[in-house]
Amino acid sequence: MISRQNSGIHMRTPTSTSATAARKKPLRFAIAILAAGKGTRLKSNRPKVLHEIAGKPLLAHVVAAASKVVPPENIFAIIGHEAELVRKALAGAGINFVVQREQRGTGHAIMVAQDALHGFEHVLVLSGDVPLIRPETIERVRDFHVANGAAMTILTAEPDDPTGYGRVFRRIVRGTETDEVERIVEQKSLRGKEAGRREINSGIYGFATQPLFAHIKKLSASNSQHELYLTDMAALLGGAGKKVVGLRAPDSSEVLGVNTRIELADLDAKLRDKKTRELMLAGTTIFRPETCDIDADVEVGTDTVIEPFVQLIGATRIGADCRIRSYSVITNCQIGDGVLVRPGCILEDSVVRNGAQLGPYSHLRPGSDIGEGAHVGNFVETKKTRLGKGSKASHLTYLGDAEIGEDVNVGAGTITCNYDGVNKHQTMIEDGAFVGSDSVLVAPLRIGKGAYIGAASCITEDVPADALAIGRGRQVTKEGWAKERRAKIQKAAK
Ligand code: UD1
Ligand code: CA
Repeated sequence: MISRQNSGIHMRTPTSTSATAARKKPLRFAIAILAAGKGTRLKSNRPKVLHEIAGKPLLAHVVAAASKVVPPENIFAIIGHEAELVRKALAGAGINFVVQREQRGTGHAIMVAQDALHGFEHVLVLSGDVPLIRPETIERVRDFHVANGAAMTILTAEPDDPTGYGRVFRRIVRGTETDEVERIVEQKSLRGKEAGRREINSGIYGFATQPLFAHIKKLSASNSQHELYLTDMAALLGGAGKKVVGLRAPDSSEVLGVNTRIELADLDAKLRDKKTRELMLAGTTIFRPETCDIDADVEVGTDTVIEPFVQLIGATRIGADCRIRSYSVITNCQIGDGVLVRPGCILEDSVVRNGAQLGPYSHLRPGSDIGEGAHVGNFVETKKTRLGKGSKASHLTYLGDAEIGEDVNVGAGTITCNYDGVNKHQTMIEDGAFVGSDSVLVAPLRIGKGAYIGAASCITEDVPADALAIGRGRQVTKEGWAKERRAKIQKAAK
């Protein structure tokens, strides 16, 4: 069963001539990504390929690399366990999905994709659980495969610890190993001296589709797992006189697989280390980078300084010359240039414009937009609120569903009462208004331009421009009252 999910970005508009030409050209390379397995060793209810490293599902990393080698419409993810969840998580990538209903092994997964891959000359096979693979390496497999006229090309590696991986056995001619591979033996099937073999199968291959599908039906499940192993194609194709070659990856860390949560954490750390190095090389200062968690897709500008224990998550973009101080967690935010985020801020799905200052301990909830040069201070929470250019809310304040103009001063302890128990209401504060400390603004409410709210007011009605509004009980002062009371108490005690 094949389906295609197109995001707008990848939609091709079929114009008559170019589309016809494209259709006639033989399609050379497809990429199939094995992603149907349950991932038993993760001990999880969620499909393995949706477990995340560097803030992104394993499969999304593989799809990103594959998309740099072939167009997304030539990519086929083979999904099975919790297929709908996987499909949903990858919607928008523009790739195809093939459903393998029963997971009967990696060889079976490719059998299921036969119809989808029909019409391609070659298929490059990637694993959804080998996420660090780089596009350059996929291209090297492709080129080596084509240059050798091979039926099957296996990307191999020699990691420090080969335990758990299938081992690659090459043809030896006059005591020397050749490029040709005779067989791949799974860890569980290794016999005697074979266990000492260091060269592993990465699970990444190139196949010429014609010989692949001519022979794949011969795979047998007579192994300890009772599965159809794609790895057995090496011996099968070799036995049929076809060329099977192995290409060593220069860096084995790129082909490490994720089978357990320990490996998941290891690869997450590797990717995050790579990310901070890339950012530092590109001009961002990061102190104690090993303490910072920066997701794969985060962007940071030149001369921005990131202090220890900062987390930058999701689609966050930070401009140049910012300082992000310790213990701030920033998720899906757009931050301009020259912004100061003091320690302990939590920012989510918000925009912070040039020169603004936040914190310490500010909480921007989704939909906040902090204007140029604006200040949001300690223990200030905002939600769906625009704070205009140069405006300040410096202490102990809640601003929800509010439109606040330029150069507004929101005094300490101001609260917008945006919720009446049923509906949310808007508060508008126009340019240059001054809201005294400890004011309660009961929405819906509009405070006009340049208006002044006396401290500790409860404001329930609109305030016109340039007016003063005070909404509090009048002060009563009783001379000598306290002294008289003390005397009364002392007398009663005698
Ligand atoms: C596989 C290789 C092994 C190699 C290792 C590299 C086989 C038999 N073994 O072992 O030689 O060293 O990868 O990481 O191929 N999958 C399906 N459908 C299935 C079974 C698996 O789509 O029916 C997918 C899984 O979701 C996974 C990938 O194929 O993404 C590999 O499967 P896995 O069970 O992890 O194989 P390994 O034991 O790691
Ligand atoms: Ca695996």
